[in-house]
Amino acid sequence: MDMQEQLRKIQEEAAAQLATITDKAELDALKVKLMGKKGELTLIRRSMGQIPAEDRPKAGQMINEVVAILTEKMDTLAAKINMLEQEKKLASEAIDVTEPRKHTMIGMQHPISLVQDQMLSVFTSMGFDVVEGPEVEYDLYNFEMMNIPKNHPARDAQDTFYIEDNVVLRTHTSPVQARTMLNRKPPIRIVCPGRVYRADEVDATHSPVFHQMEGLVVGEDVTMADLKGTLDAFAQKLFGDDMTTRFRPSFFPFTEPSAEVDLTCVNCHGKGCRICKGTGWIEVLGAGMVNPKVLEMCGIDSKKYSGFAFGVGLERIAMLRYGITDMRALFEGDVRFLSQFRDD
Ligand code: PHE
Repeated sequence: MDMQEQLRKIQEEAAAQLATITDKAELDALKVKLMGKKGELTLIRRSMGQIPAEDRPKAGQMINEVVAILTEKMDTLAAKINMLEQEKKLASEAIDVTEPRKHTMIGMQHPISLVQDQMLSVFTSMGFDVVEGPEVEYDLYNFEMMNIPKNHPARDAQDTFYIEDNVVLRTHTSPVQARTMLNRKPPIRIVCPGRVYRADEVDATHSPVFHQMEGLVVGEDVTMADLKGTLDAFAQKLFGDDMTTRFRPSFFPFTEPSAEVDLTCVNCHGKGCRICKGTGWIEVLGAGMVNPKVLEMCGIDSKKYSGFAFGVGLERIAMLRYGITDMRALFEGDVRFLSQFRDD
């Protein structure tokens, strides 16, 4: 078979193969078969030495032509395969934006977090800053600075979890008052939410861990009327315009005078029901005018400044707000219970 015939055969066979090739691997294999180190065309080119010198230029030209034709065809096919693969990839990655989404579980906020957020938004809208303090607290701030001396019954080991002799799990959020007064100059207007601890048995209304929010205002001419106005506004924003508060005389070492504060019953709105035991009132918080002794211990001139403070239990507020009758539900983490709450 002469060279021309050989070339024609190679070209025909290659063209036939190119017509059936659909992927890159096959195309690469063909390229190697034709033009690789031992490729058919490479071998022919190498055998040129065997033909007479005068025929070589023509032969070289013929080989070059076949190589050029086949290279172009293979390049064209490579581009086509490339495009098809791109299209396939795009099609497989396409997103159907009209497809209905899979059902996803949406987390709910815990009722304690909900009331805490609601209360913080009420107080911040009245100009209060939010301050937090440590849960593991020095006796000094939890008791001494709150005018609760060493022999006070509130320090009884039954009520307080001691970490060390002078370190406790805070029994209320009031130590944040002391920390703030020591660090800031009046006017002071803060609320301090947080977890507190008391060695109580668990039952429907008690838990050794619970939450409070403390309020403190210190300034010139701050009076009990300001305290009442603030708490009335708080009650109305949280529970409705018909709410009001009632102060009953009480005692706290850190306030003087002190009051237990009742709120119009959120269930019967004052008419009298089972929840308020027919009185129309429910007890919700402790409050009073900051004891001048406390102001002085915290470096504030009690002749120039006065203040009020209050402490609210968040569990109590959450229970009233959502009609929860057993406090344990707030701590057990049962998803069926928790999934009922959302802020709306
Ligand atoms: N610290 C008090 C308590 O835990 C609540 C309180 C705070 C009372 C501020 C008066 C003023 O019981």
